[in-house]
Amino acid sequence: MLHVNENYAKIKPTYLFAEIAHRVEAHKKANPDAKIIRLGIGDVTEPLCPAIIEAMHKAVDDEAGRTNFHGYGPEQGYAFLREKIAKVDFQDRGIRIDANEILVSDGAKCDCGNIQELFGEDVKIAVGDPVYPVYVDTNIMAGRQDIALLPCTKENGYVPVPTPELDADIVYLCYPNNPTGAVATLEQLQAWVDWANANKALILFDAAYEAFIRTPGIPHSIYECKNARTCAIEFRSYSKTAGFTGIRCGYTVVPKGLVAYDQAGNPVELRPMWTRRQTTKFNGASYITQRGAEAVYSPEGQAQTKATIDFYLENGRLMKEALQSLGYQVTGGGDSPYLWVDVKGDSWEFFDMLLKKANVVTTPGAGFGKAGEGYIRISSFNSRANVLEAIERIKAL
Ligand code: MLT
Repeated sequence: MLHVNENYAKIKPTYLFAEIAHRVEAHKKANPDAKIIRLGIGDVTEPLCPAIIEAMHKAVDDEAGRTNFHGYGPEQGYAFLREKIAKVDFQDRGIRIDANEILVSDGAKCDCGNIQELFGEDVKIAVGDPVYPVYVDTNIMAGRQDIALLPCTKENGYVPVPTPELDADIVYLCYPNNPTGAVATLEQLQAWVDWANANKALILFDAAYEAFIRTPGIPHSIYECKNARTCAIEFRSYSKTAGFTGIRCGYTVVPKGLVAYDQAGNPVELRPMWTRRQTTKFNGASYITQRGAEAVYSPEGQAQTKATIDFYLENGRLMKEALQSLGYQVTGGGDSPYLWVDVKGDSWEFFDMLLKKANVVTTPGAGFGKAGEGYIRISSFNSRANVLEAIERIKAL
C-alpha cells in the first residue's frame, strides 16, 4: 500500500501566507469593488532598480549569441557573483568569508527549509516564538517533533537569551527579526555563538533583512561575532534587499571547517554535504538572475537599492508614528520592514476586522506561533500612496 508521509498531518494544512491569500480572495469575491491594500506578506512593490535591469538586459543579450551563451552554471553559483558577495557583504566589513564558502541559490526560504536535510532525524531544534513558520514546518515534515520554543517577548526585547538548561542541537535565529522587526546587538548574538560552541550546537542565522539595518553597531552578519565560523551557517536573500521576490536569488554561507558529527562522534564537514545536496537537487539560479544580483554590488546598484530600502523604511516610520498616535504599542520599523503591533486581542479577529472594515491586509501574529497571539504584523512594502491611504482608513475606524 502506498503510504504518505504522516508528518504532514502534524502541520497546519495551509501555509500561513496561503491561508491569508485565501481569506483575501474570498473577501475580494464578496466585495469586487473593494480597493484592497496589501500589507501582509513581505512582498516588494517597487520596481527593480536601473542598474539591475541594465545588467539583466545585457545578460539576455549574452544568451542570444553563441559567444556569450550560458547553459548550466557552476555548482556553487557563478564566481563573478560569489566574489562580489565575499568582498562587499563580508570582507569590506572586516569579516573573513571566502567566495568558496558561498553557495548561490534561488532564495533564503528554500535554503532555510532545505538545510535540515543535512542533520539526523533525532536532532533537537530550538526556535524563537513567534517565528517564521518555515523553520518549524520543514522540521516537522522531516519527522522532528522535539522543537523547543524560545519566548521572544516585550520583556526580552524579542531576543531570547541562551540558558545552560537549553537542550538543543540547532537554533534558528533571524535578525532583524521576522515577524517582530526587532534587532539583536552584537553582545546578544555573541552569547548565542558562545553557547553554540560550548555545546557543539549549530546556529542557523537568517539575515534576510540585514539591508534594512540603519542603527550603527547592529550586526549585519552572525560572523561579526568571535568564533562564529565554527558554529554558524548564514542565509541571505536578494528578495527584500534588491526586490527579487519574483526573480528569486539568495545565498548561503557555510564556512570551511564547520562540522556536525556522525553517530560514532566523528566530525563531518557540512560545506561538502550542502554542496552535494544542492548539486543533486538543484541546478542553480539562472545566469540572467545572477548577473542581476551581481549588479547589486556596483556603486550604482548599492546606491539605488539603498534608496528603495530607505523608501520602505519611511513607509514604516509613517505607519509606526500613526499607530503610536492611536495608542498602539509598536516594535520594529526602524531597522526592519516589519511593524509588530500589540492589538491586545485575538489576532485573527483583528486581521479580519481590518480586512472587512478597512480593506487592509496584515498578518495575524498567531500565525507565527503562540506568543504571536495578541499582535499583528504590518509590512512596509507598498507604494507611499497606499501606505498613506491605509493610515487614513485605520484612523477612521
Ligand atoms: C514574510 O512575509 O514573512 C516573507 O515575505 C515570507 C517569505 O519570505 O517567504
